[in-house]
Amino acid sequence: MIKKLSVALVLWSASGVVTQFATAADVESLRGQTAIEDESRPPEPKKYAKDGEPLPRDYVQQPPLIPHKITNYRIDANSNKCLSCHSWKNYREAGATKISQTHFQDRDENVLANISARRYFCTQCHVPQANARPLVENTFKPITAISGQ
Ligand code: HEC
Ligand code: HEC
Repeated sequence: MIKKLSVALVLWSASGVVTQFATAADVESLRGQTAIEDESRPPEPKKYAKDGEPLPRDYVQQPPLIPHKITNYRIDANSNKCLSCHSWKNYREAGATKISQTHFQDRDENVLANISARRYFCTQCHVPQANARPLVENTFKPITAISGQ
């Protein structure tokens, strides 16, 4: 009898432990449930959005999102494909927005004759859009200076 009771107790407490920790097991890293020594599953390739109109901004200082594909647009020490359309020299012909004046300042706010090195690698700040679902829930709302509400 005592033995039976203790078995029951063990089972009962074990089930308690299981439910208590079930929530911790639900927490999944962005890498997925993969053992550290295993290779993680490659993410599904995303489709970039078709070329379109400029996208609305959420706050005034935001680097605008790229409303077109950028596949094979090289940016390296010898060339910058983005500038072939967005530079002050080329923007009219390309029908593109010219790069902001702020892109001609170094970090001490000295105004330069050409694009600042810190703004050369455009995709550090500007990103194209894909059909990606948000990784976490987000309740961010645009600031009132833009939304008017
Ligand atoms: C072949 C020309 C071309 C190239 C190359 C190009 N763009 Fe564009 N880009 C455009 C055009 C055209 C628009 C849309 C302008 C419009 O409709 O007002 C645009 C829009 C944008 C905008 C949105 C501007 C805004 O006001 O919202 C960003 C940001 C941008 N491009 C960044 C880039 C970056 C970064 C690269 C390089 C990786 C790049 N573009 C390469 C032509 C180009
Ligand atoms: C360090 C971040 C950063 C880098 C790098 C950068 N930008 Fe920007 N960009 C911004 C921010 C922030 C804004 C919006 C505020 C402003 O105008 O400075 C902006 C604005 C713009 C705009 C809109 C200008 C307008 O009049 O509305 C264009 C077009 C643009 N960037 C293109 C580029 C291109 C092309 C490159 C690469 C040659 C580049 N940017 C590199 C941060 C960056």
